[in-house]
Amino acid sequence: MSVHAIVLAAGRGTRMNSEVAKVLHEAAGRSLLAWVLDSIEAAAADRTIVVVGHQADGVAGSLPAGVEWVLQEPQNGTGHAVQVAMAHLGALDTDATVIVAYGDMPLVPGEVYRGLAERESGVAATVVTVDPGPPGFGRIVRDDGGAVGAVVEERDCTPAHQAITERNAGIYSFRAGALTSALSQLTADNDQGELYLTDVIGILVAAGGSIETLAVGDEEVTGVNSHRQLAAVEAVLRRRRNDELMESGVWMLDPGRVYVDAAATVEPGALLYPDTYLRGDTTVRAGASVGPDVFASDSIIGPGAVVRYSVLRGAQVGADVSVGPYASLRPGSVLETGSKVGTFVETKNTVIGEGAKLPHLSYFGDATVGRDVNVGAGSITCNYDGYEKHHTVIGDDAFIGSDTMLVAPVTIGDRAVTGAGSVITGDVAPGSLAVERSPQHQVQGYADRRAARRRARDAEEGN
Ligand code: UD1
Ligand code: CA
Repeated sequence: MSVHAIVLAAGRGTRMNSEVAKVLHEAAGRSLLAWVLDSIEAAAADRTIVVVGHQADGVAGSLPAGVEWVLQEPQNGTGHAVQVAMAHLGALDTDATVIVAYGDMPLVPGEVYRGLAERESGVAATVVTVDPGPPGFGRIVRDDGGAVGAVVEERDCTPAHQAITERNAGIYSFRAGALTSALSQLTADNDQGELYLTDVIGILVAAGGSIETLAVGDEEVTGVNSHRQLAAVEAVLRRRRNDELMESGVWMLDPGRVYVDAAATVEPGALLYPDTYLRGDTTVRAGASVGPDVFASDSIIGPGAVVRYSVLRGAQVGADVSVGPYASLRPGSVLETGSKVGTFVETKNTVIGEGAKLPHLSYFGDATVGRDVNVGAGSITCNYDGYEKHHTVIGDDAFIGSDTMLVAPVTIGDRAVTGAGSVITGDVAPGSLAVERSPQHQVQGYADRRAARRRARDAEEGN
């Protein structure tokens, strides 16, 4: 029998105080809604429909291929949202299963949705419950025999209802035929004048339907309504991810201070020091040692590489490369096997060949550096003339003296050498030395003459 999933995401999210739709806020590198859609895949639904309303364009635009959306306008309550989604789904088999989920509950595990998808055919609805549940959640009201009779919203509770600790998470599965008929009977006869999905439960019971419950832990149904809750959810997602990684063989000195995005990969045998951020599509290979204080986005850190106190954006760090401390690798930086980009070095759109070394205080932009090149401290490429960027090429085994300014476009041949302090504006042939600096003068006996002048002046002034 077919299974359909409806994800409610039309609400405003007033307390986020943000231009961004609430469900598009990110936790651990993925939007809240993307986390929900990811978990819902476990239900293997035939169709998944997201109900959008506030900031509808942004939310609809974020959806992956294959996920549908429908506009709920105005937002007249959770019952109304499901009515709109059911109208979008069109005629369904009466025995089909319809799952309802919330776009702002990113911690619900996939197994919960899988469990809901496996609804037994005699059951009209399964309600996900949490006991003890948080304040504000609807109460699960049971009869003397323990059967679910209704869900009552907190604002409509009697004192007896108030005391019920078993609460409604807001996630359900329904028999499609029963849901359709109950939705048509909803009224807005409540404190908020909205159509409550929760009223469907009482309507189903009155019609003789049987209701089941599926209990989950309170952490799993944490909804996000504020930045405090967003941070709490982020912490849980991060802990789950780090636990998985450590389980697989990743070594972390202090997992509370390691931030691995959903899309990032860390291979077993990698070592992550505190305050390591692996953002976006970043990969850390086996045997790499990363951190402390590394921010890497959309980058690859190769096997055995050591990266300390550095920022990497769109960089590829090869095997056994050494980066930092205090390096900035900007997009297009490719560091080949065994190379080194050291202290206070910035690279951009630059290939550093195997075994080449830029140990200290350099900027290399738009450059191709050959194998085993050594770049002396303070050398830089002058790649920008104020209008355009130009390329620098350095051949294999070249030696760039300290404080060389390489004014691009320029090519330094294989095994060529530049003298320290040179401004290199022309190509250097392979194996040649290029020096650009004025000859050094030497003035003999200078220190003694200077001291004598000083003494004479002091005597004149009577010191
Ligand atoms: C709802 C339940 C309550 C449950 C709680 C769990 C109802 C009437 N109450 O209350 O029993 O304990 O969730 O969190 O269902 N939404 C729409 N369109 C609307 C209204 C809401 O898409 O017109 C979406 C919201 O974006 C949100 C979700 O539905 O993701 C829940 O809406 P909200 O108004 O926050 O319901 P609660 O008052 O929390
Ligand atoms: Ca000079």
